Amino acid sequence: MNILVTGGAGFIGSNYLLMMVDKYPEDYFINVDSLTYAGNLKNLVSLGDRLNYIFYKVDIHDSTALEAVFRKEKPDAVIHFAAESHVDRSIENPLIFAETNVLGTINLINYARKYGVARYVQVSTDEVYGSLGQEGFFTETTPLLPNSPYSASKASADCFVRAAVETYGMNASITRCSNNYGPYQFPEKLIPLMIWRALEGKPLPVYGDGLNVRDWLYVDDHCLAIDTVLRQGQSGEVYNVGGHNERTNLEIIQEILLILNKSDSLIQFVTDRPGHDRRYAIDASKIKQQLNWVPTTNFKDGIKKTVQWYLSNEQWWRDILSGEYQSYYSDMYINR
Ligand code: NAD
Ligand code: TYD
Repeated sequence: MNILVTGGAGFIGSNYLLMMVDKYPEDYFINVDSLTYAGNLKNLVSLGDRLNYIFYKVDIHDSTALEAVFRKEKPDAVIHFAAESHVDRSIENPLIFAETNVLGTINLINYARKYGVARYVQVSTDEVYGSLGQEGFFTETTPLLPNSPYSASKASADCFVRAAVETYGMNASITRCSNNYGPYQFPEKLIPLMIWRALEGKPLPVYGDGLNVRDWLYVDDHCLAIDTVLRQGQSGEVYNVGGHNERTNLEIIQEILLILNKSDSLIQFVTDRPGHDRRYAIDASKIKQQLNWVPTTNFKDGIKKTVQWYLSNEQWWRDILSGEYQSYYSDMYINR
């Protein structure tokens, strides 16, 4: 298969490519990424000059450039990771979330149809379901009730994918995963932010009372779920993905401090995020029962591995904090 992967220079996309380019030498991976602040080609250095991998610096919102990739590479499948992904940024600037997450998705759907793509996977999020109370889980039939501009844009994109299945008979599935953590996560997100700030001895900003709950999944398990849905998922179906690892934000931060042997006194309660969802929890029984996917990394091991990765890859996050990473371009990766 020729597999067009959007957003492959971001957190989950780069973990996906690092795993799958080697796992499937007979498949050809076409990475389309515009390299926003969240895209980092250094994540993919270890792919070297693999013959089954190519990178295009293309904005999915740019119809002409996107069509040129489809015309040249004729993908059989599309996995759509590319997105503006940070809730706090969406509160500041919702428009770019609509441009990339909604209009970019519509562009992709249009060219996937025009160029006869046989299979399409939309990488969505549990945040489209809104917020849970103390009890219960999101299932695939939970109504979409997004509360942030980010989740509103992702829910809208999901609706366009659904419409493409119903209207044009497109072969597409949607995955909705809970919060991911692991290597290469941009240091603005909770877990990497707390790791680097604790290492620097800086205050750790906890929004509100710190009792908001997220359901954490190690990134490799999400990548394996997406691959499973790509190869075995049914068209028109939504698959929730999660690891039953519910933790409050305070519990997460305390775990990180424990591993790093740093003091709780770094914790600083700050003004809450507006529209802050209280609790996410995923019922992943559909993908488990129908596609035999199960998470392989438990939270205790995953968080230790993750902290260790940030300790061993200090230059990676320091280059991001200084902005140096954005000056890294290697000709060998750009539209060869
Ligand atoms: P990320 O912000 O780390 O990476 C996004 C990537 O998309 C970057 O490489 C960026 O350069 C690229 N991109 C952004 N706008 C683009 C555009 N207009 N054209 C081309 N490329 C563009 O995000 P992530 O955390 O890796 O998330 C990937 C996907 O998974 C997103 O769709 C997100 O909604 C979804 N998701 C993320 C999580 C999570 O916890 N991180 C959980 C569930 C679902
Ligand atoms: P985040 O990593 O931004 O993911 P999301 O909002 O998509 O779930 O945040 C995870 C949780 O951590 C969320 O409840 C907000 C909280 N949070 C903080 O308390 N402080 C911070 O500095 C950040 C970035 C997040």
